[in-house]
Amino acid sequence: MSSLSRAPRGAAAAVAVALLAIGAASGCRQGMYNQPKKKPLSESHFFHDGLSARVPPADTVARGWLRADAAYARGIGPDGKFVSTLPQEVVFSRELLLRGRQRFDVFCSPCHGREGNGLGMIVQRGFKQPPSYHIERLQHQPIGYFFDVMTNGFGQMSSYASQVPVEDRWAIAAYIRALQLSQHAVVADLPQRDRDALAAATAATVASPAAAAQTEPSR
Ligand code: HEC
Repeated sequence: MSSLSRAPRGAAAAVAVALLAIGAASGCRQGMYNQPKKKPLSESHFFHDGLSARVPPADTVARGWLRADAAYARGIGPDGKFVSTLPQEVVFSRELLLRGRQRFDVFCSPCHGREGNGLGMIVQRGFKQPPSYHIERLQHQPIGYFFDVMTNGFGQMSSYASQVPVEDRWAIAAYIRALQLSQHAVVADLPQRDRDALAAATAATVASPAAAAQTEPSR
C-alpha cells in the first residue's frame, strides 16, 4: 500500500476522534436538553385527571388580551347594541380619516372598490359582489356595525381581526362613514368655499355648457 492511500485513512481517523471529542464535550448538556417535560394534551400520571395541561381558572385572560371595554373592543355599547359613535378611545381627526382611507384602500378596496360601491377588482374577476356601502340599509347601520363586520366577518367575507388591529378597524369604520357622506352630501353640507366654487361652476355651465364641459377635469 502506498503512503498516498494511507494518508486519507489517517485523516478519517482524525475526523472520527474530533467528532468523538465534540460528542463527549456536549454530552454534559444532554441532561439539560432532555429535561422531563410534558407536551400539551399529553398524558400525565401526576394529576388526578390524567391530563398534563392544567385548565386555566375561569375568566383567565392572556396578557394583552383583556377586552374589558366592549365599545372599543367589539363595537357594542352598554345597552348591548352596536355603538353609533366612535368609542372614547378613538379621537376623531383628519389623521384618523387619512389612516382609515389608507387602510381601506389596502384591505377593503380590492373587493369593495375605492368608492365602496362593491365593484373592486377581485369582484370583477369573479368573487361574490358585496353590497354597495351607499345602499340605504348600510347607510343607516351604526358605526359599530362596520367594526363588527371587519372583526367577525360577514357571510362570504372573512374576518380581518388578525390583519387589521382594533385602532385601524375604527379608522376604517370612520372612513366608510366619510365615503357614505361623499355620495349623499347635500350642498348645505359643504363648506362656504366649496359652495362658492360650485355656484361659480354651475353659473359657467348655464352660460356656456360647451365651454364648461371642456374645462371639466378628466377622470
Ligand atoms: C375578498 C373580498 C372582500 C374584502 C377584501 C372585504 N370584503 Fe367586505 N364583503 C365582501 C363580500 C363578498 C361581502 C358580502 C358577503 C355576503 O353577503 O356573503 C362583504 C360585505 C361587507 C359589508 C356589508 C355587510 C352587510 O350587512 O351586508 C361590509 C360593511 C364590509 N363587507 C366591510 C368590509 C371592510 C371594512 C373591509 C376591509 C377591512 C372588507 N369588507 C373587505 C367581500 C370582501
